[in-house]
Amino acid sequence: MRKNIVAGNWKMNKTFQEAEELIDRIVVGMEDTSLKCELIICPPALYLEVASDYAEESRLSVGAQNVSEHEKGAYTGEISAPMLDSVDVEYCIVGHSERRKYHGETNAQLAKKTDLLLDYGIRPIFCCGEVLEEREKAIQFNVVKKQITESLFHLSADEFSNLVIAYEPVWAIGTGKTATPEQAQEMHAFIRNLISEKYGKNIADEVSILYGGSCNPGNAKTLFSNPDVDGGLIGGASLKADDFLKIAQSF
Ligand code: PGA
Repeated sequence: MRKNIVAGNWKMNKTFQEAEELIDRIVVGMEDTSLKCELIICPPALYLEVASDYAEESRLSVGAQNVSEHEKGAYTGEISAPMLDSVDVEYCIVGHSERRKYHGETNAQLAKKTDLLLDYGIRPIFCCGEVLEEREKAIQFNVVKKQITESLFHLSADEFSNLVIAYEPVWAIGTGKTATPEQAQEMHAFIRNLISEKYGKNIADEVSILYGGSCNPGNAKTLFSNPDVDGGLIGGASLKADDFLKIAQSF
């Protein structure tokens, strides 16, 4: 179901105590706020169980930042979809550009991760987006199309309707450079159209497409006011409860 979503990607930040404090502040802040969006936090894996405990008692939702492409077995250091499911994780980021860049994740691997998550009832937040050089060459649409086609278009329409897509132009991530509202809308409309061509308009209209890349309390409202931008995947600004909640109040 298409809904407004604000998801916080904490990346590799916060100690256990700091994480608990931040979750607590977000949950307390949510109690006094009427939000027109679903609020998700994606803390490091070590803190997911605590986050889920908080989520059980509040409107907060919890997502992981990554999952193994394997279901179980001898994969030292990895965390599987059934493990995430066993601590009530509802969402999982797939294919963040940092995973693609630093861990060499390929479209084929991301397809496997997506399948496993869906098998365990966890909703993938699938990230796509071009690097600066690709935008300068004006091939950003082809890049995003390839990422989505190769990792997701083997899914059935039913499966696809459980996805959340996050468009994150890599040049905007952690750089303070945001896509203009026009650039975001243009790509989001392109993505929705791509989905529509493959799965039909009904499914395309149901999928939430989030924008990510230096989104903050100052620019969230303009970005989210675009018809095809259904919220944001927030990095840096999700590490402060006040900023994160302000972004969530931008609808
Ligand atoms: P940023 O990160 O908001 O710090 O740019 C976004 C992301 O990587 O998801």
